[in-house]
Amino acid sequence: MSLLTRTGPTPRVTGDPAERSHRRHGRTDAGPPRGRPTHRELVRRDLAAYARRVGLDDLARTHGSPLFVLDPARVAAQVDELRRELPGTGIHFATKSLPHPAVIDAVHASGASFEVASRGEVDLLERHGVPIGACLHTHPVKTVADITGAYLRGIRTFVVDSPSEIGKFAGLPCCDVGVLVRLSFPNPGAKSDLSSKFGVAPEHAAALVERCLAARLRVRGFTFHVGSQTISAEPWRRAIDATLRLMRTLEARHGIRFELLDLGGGFPVAYDEPVPSLGELARGIRSALAAVPPHVRVVVEPGRFVAAPAMTLVTRVIGTNDRADGRWHYLDEGLYGAYSNIPAEDVHALVFTAAELGVEPDRPVGPADAPAARRPARRRVPVTLAGPTCDSVDVIARRLPLPPLADGDLLVSPMMGAYTWATATGFNGIAPTPVVVLPEG
Ligand SMILES: Cc1ncc(COP(=O)(O)O)c(C=O)c1O
Repeated sequence: MSLLTRTGPTPRVTGDPAERSHRRHGRTDAGPPRGRPTHRELVRRDLAAYARRVGLDDLARTHGSPLFVLDPARVAAQVDELRRELPGTGIHFATKSLPHPAVIDAVHASGASFEVASRGEVDLLERHGVPIGACLHTHPVKTVADITGAYLRGIRTFVVDSPSEIGKFAGLPCCDVGVLVRLSFPNPGAKSDLSSKFGVAPEHAAALVERCLAARLRVRGFTFHVGSQTISAEPWRRAIDATLRLMRTLEARHGIRFELLDLGGGFPVAYDEPVPSLGELARGIRSALAAVPPHVRVVVEPGRFVAAPAMTLVTRVIGTNDRADGRWHYLDEGLYGAYSNIPAEDVHALVFTAAELGVEPDRPVGPADAPAARRPARRRVPVTLAGPTCDSVDVIARRLPLPPLADGDLLVSPMMGAYTWATATGFNGIAPTPVVVLPEG
């Protein structure tokens, strides 16, 4: 029986994720014209250079596997890129994507703020000296105790998307607290379309704002999330245009002034397929933002874009079996652990053998196979990669072309920081994967 749907992250997709991974890998490899390197090859070159620079061999030798390698410098670089591409826009890192202390410190040191959704996240930020008053509490559904607790810790901006939520603010001083109304803009093209669970449709938003005003609750502005891993500026442009129209109508009708427009997260990273650069997306977003009036501040809540590049995963082959459908390799990480982003989000980080990257740590098992496996093979053969749990759902990828592997070999996946460590479970008594934090500089 699979426990994934009971104890794991909420699956956002259906079907066999490992099978989809195979289909996508096939398409990617068929991608560029002859002579042009594939996306996988370009990522391999970058990752090989990165592995040399950070000493991935030594890290794997010292810390063993599985292992997350967390690079705070990459967190800072991603925040800087957002600042460059969306100048003047406030950044609130989505804490949920990678709530690791080193990430919190790196985001805080970069001068960005945070988006939070729970008491635990507020606790974490408080422990790291983050000014809580500047954070946004973005969960549209909270208990009165959650709201009061967050208020007492310093939060002043919350999110509502229903009449029932408005009533929960009754006990708080209305001059001091403001809300953002969460709007829903469906985006079937996104990896995770977040509009079905949260947000009020724009055509019903005026009535919700009016209920807030009747309850003497200050509406600071609007927030939306166009969907995680959104690969076109169009959803943001449409959402910005519609929200600005709504703001203008309500400002004129009620003689009020909104002050905040929150564009949410959704900025994509390249897993097994290339995505448009942030620069490309930001060009489209900036042109829509040109219509924002000067009294409205714009903020974003990036999670994946900041967190994903910050972690690299090292795993090891712990078993091999030739089954009816071909060769299977069993790894010391799987869907219930670091690869929890596969069933939850249908995203598929690339997988490389250590030999492909020139990484050569000691091999603790399988000495008989060692010489063949160490030779960097050019030819890749399709294999199935399975996770370590005694559960048959735990399959990372099927018919994934990889160079020949043997027990003890290491595999490396880049782009593994977002919704991985944060959503991993301890199913089957398997310990959480340790994180080694690279020194900065
Ligand atoms: C309210 C809110 N803001 C921001 C994010 C971050 O989104 P992403 O990781 O797609 O940037 C999320 C993710 O679920 C969210 O729920």
